[in-house]
Amino acid sequence: MRVALGVSGGIAAYKAAELVRLLQDKGLDVEVVMTRNAREFITPLTFAALSGHKVITGMFGEAQGSSNLESAIEHIAVAQSIDAFVIAPATANVLAKMAHGIADDFLTTLCLATKAPLIVAPAMNVNMWEHAATQENLETLRNRGVRVVDPGEGYLACGMTGAGRLASPECIAQAVFETLGLREDLKGETVLVTAGPTEEPLDAVRYISNRSSGKMGYALAEVSRRRGARVLLVSGPARTEPPAVAGLERVRTAEEMAQAVFRHLEEATVVLMAAAVADFRPAEVSSGKIKKQQGAPVVKLEPTVDILAEIARRRREAQLIVGFAAEADHVVENAAAKLRAKRLDLIVANDVSQDGAGFDVDTNIVTLLFPDGRKKALEKMRKLDVANRVLDEVVELRKRTVTSDK
Ligand code: CTP
Repeated sequence: MRVALGVSGGIAAYKAAELVRLLQDKGLDVEVVMTRNAREFITPLTFAALSGHKVITGMFGEAQGSSNLESAIEHIAVAQSIDAFVIAPATANVLAKMAHGIADDFLTTLCLATKAPLIVAPAMNVNMWEHAATQENLETLRNRGVRVVDPGEGYLACGMTGAGRLASPECIAQAVFETLGLREDLKGETVLVTAGPTEEPLDAVRYISNRSSGKMGYALAEVSRRRGARVLLVSGPARTEPPAVAGLERVRTAEEMAQAVFRHLEEATVVLMAAAVADFRPAEVSSGKIKKQQGAPVVKLEPTVDILAEIARRRREAQLIVGFAAEADHVVENAAAKLRAKRLDLIVANDVSQDGAGFDVDTNIVTLLFPDGRKKALEKMRKLDVANRVLDEVVELRKRTVTSDK
């Protein structure tokens, strides 16, 4: 998810740097927008370094070397792509402009141009805070659905004490998380996720593998972490960067993946088996390189360990096990058979023959199947959204195991 952070000119602007970190910690992509006055207090470079994005400081690409058209397009793109816009610190001046629909710089233009929810964290001198104009403007904004994170009381930079001090970065971040519906509903769970393909060597340079990109497993790991779980990720050689998790183990073969999974099985309360594990491997591996002169080799394959079946066999009470089924035909029937055979709590079936589903794309089209015969077909959506839907079901299943324990 993407959040824009608007920084306006106040001594508390430096605290916005800490807020960037807190938002990123939950996996949010942060785009910083600064007013001209904010730049008197903290440099755009600080925010560029923290956020990993160019900081938007003006309407027309000033100080960025980009053309007016480029920057105008970029600005519209920001307005459309963000899931929330938080302004911290918000000065009395910015609040007044927002209340009256004035758009004379990029920050205030974005307030009008975006449909994303707005959150403001005011910071100012106590007299400005208490002024009827400010209070009336805040009332207008609240009535319009803007969320206000009230300032705290305490020592103010101007030497006075009283209300007006920017709320703590933690409080502001919390307001953003609540607005985005980011839940901590997997707190206390240890989620073991497998991702990516495996590679089964044939000789010193060749191997058998599959087209799995690891994206679905990485999305599950990322979303589990955002929702408060401790995440252990066992990843085959995927082509993208894995998310930051509590424990990452990189493996190559099905056998290595099996060993890594079995090692962590004891501590896992939830297992999400998204990896595309090779079902077969070459029975013999040449230590050197097979030479052309030797003629076309006949490769004999042998089965690998079925990790998921083994996990299900060893399962502890209250451990939730989710399998994935990549199918090209009779998707639901085949997946339902796997669900039963491996005694899973849930299987996520995807039809890899459809456009926008399966390997190496950012979207997926899946059907969720449950042991009691329930079936939920989801529309085409981003893998991150699929991950959230799968984890919603894990949370529901957990409620049942907890109730049945009582
Ligand atoms: N899986 C596993 N170990 C294997 C093969 C598969 O743990 N050696 C897991 C996958 O991670 C996935 C599920 O089993 O969660 C289903 O994988 P899939 O390859 O679709 O099914 P298979 O059981 O291998 O059956 P088939 O080849 O008949 O489709």
